Amino acid sequence: MSKISKDQSTTSGNLHAQIYSRLRNMIEQGQLKAGQRVSSLRTMAVELGVARGTVQVAYDRLIGEGYLVARGPAGTFVAAAQLAQQARQHHALHATDPRPASGVDVLAAREVKIDFGGAVPAALQLGLPALDAFPRKLWQRLMARQIAHSHALTNPSPMGYAPLRSALISYLGASRGIEATPAQLFIIPSYRAGLALTINALALNAGEAGLSGSQAWIENPGYPPTARVLQQLGVQPCCIPVDDQGLDVAYAQQHYQEAKLAIVTPSHQSPTGVALSLSRRRSLLEWAAQQRGWIVEDDYDSEYRYRGHPLPALKSLDDAERVIYCGTLSKVMFPGLRLAYVVVPPSLVEAFTIAANHAVYGGCPELQQAAVTEFIVDGYFSRHIKRMRALYASRREFLVEALTPYEAHGFKVRLHDGGMHLLLDIPAGQDDRLMAQAAQAAGFGIQALSVWTKGDARHHALMVGFTNVDSLAEAERQVVRLMQVLTGNTF
Ligand SMILES: Cc1ncc(COP(=O)(O)O)c(C=O)c1O
Repeated sequence: MSKISKDQSTTSGNLHAQIYSRLRNMIEQGQLKAGQRVSSLRTMAVELGVARGTVQVAYDRLIGEGYLVARGPAGTFVAAAQLAQQARQHHALHATDPRPASGVDVLAAREVKIDFGGAVPAALQLGLPALDAFPRKLWQRLMARQIAHSHALTNPSPMGYAPLRSALISYLGASRGIEATPAQLFIIPSYRAGLALTINALALNAGEAGLSGSQAWIENPGYPPTARVLQQLGVQPCCIPVDDQGLDVAYAQQHYQEAKLAIVTPSHQSPTGVALSLSRRRSLLEWAAQQRGWIVEDDYDSEYRYRGHPLPALKSLDDAERVIYCGTLSKVMFPGLRLAYVVVPPSLVEAFTIAANHAVYGGCPELQQAAVTEFIVDGYFSRHIKRMRALYASRREFLVEALTPYEAHGFKVRLHDGGMHLLLDIPAGQDDRLMAQAAQAAGFGIQALSVWTKGDARHHALMVGFTNVDSLAEAERQVVRLMQVLTGNTF
């Protein structure tokens, strides 16, 4: 490639965007062919006269979107034609006109709770990051530093601490392929608060009747708080089956045609772990563009993927600007932090700003937000995620190995490509709710899949966390005890 133009206004942000666009065009126009090796980071950086990190950001994004494939020391290659073609088709979706916003009444937001365990990790705790691996001393230092600043002690901005909004936008651009401005990102205490904020903001959006009394598609099985928040705010949750390609969009369109909202976990469906297939992603985006519906993307743990590369966020393919993206720091840092965020389309910024100013939670503590900003900007955040990805991969192996001998007794592990838990099938005819209750009473933090499922199509299995299992010996010790509780037998 020829040298990248660098005038005075050029930042590293638009340099990597230029490299990304050029390579993408070269792949789409066939100048770079499937299977062809692209230059190494170093060579490309020298060729273009830019920093290596700038090329890295562009490559990461192309990998995330399926244009390139990294094969370790062998190098980086143009992906198979089919994958690149699918990525291209996503980008070709038509954009619709954004609508201006105006103000109407705000609905009250209410929180619901789901119990992911107490103060210490319960055995095999579901949904909790590795507390032993969080850099607490560093965190203590960052918090102590921030307490010296008055801004950390005053009323927080309802939209979030401006430097954190910028830092998260840079992170999402590089790691999830999301292009947005800091004004589009709102800091919230939790995913649930984000969902409530979304419903309130949509009621404020011009031309929108509001969602009260309307239908919303939700995944079945799915994360229980989603349905509860919707019900509390007068929106009817409509359960849509999830199969091995994720949410069944055709079923949803056929059965709930009036819906105006869809809530999905595309990267790693909660709790089954499947990824929403590319064709379903396309269908969902097309539905939203045509019906002027909205999609809430709950991207709660996409950073953890152990096989293959992270799939791009649905939001990164959202040319029609219909996706409201929700991320959380609960999984990549720790849930006690109570910090999450939404990234909204430009047409909704005004409505979200008004809704955030009226939100019942009244903003998030700026002390923590400022410390997180330093954690991100100084590079600790990316390093921590990278470390946790490797750590969880090995902790997952410990648990799988410890569970394998029990397959003969009807306990079969179902593994997916990412996430922080595995599904454990139980012997035929057994009730997972009774098993989970017995396990919880014995101090385990595991849950029953059928509790997260509505209707008759219940699949009985247990959701078991592996993130806090620090060795094979510990995994074996916990599994032996679990099996005694579940079966009454001593193995
Ligand atoms: C599916 C799903 N979405 C979102 C979240 C994040 O929730 P919060 O931001 O309240 O911690 C979780 C947490 O466990 C989750 O499992």
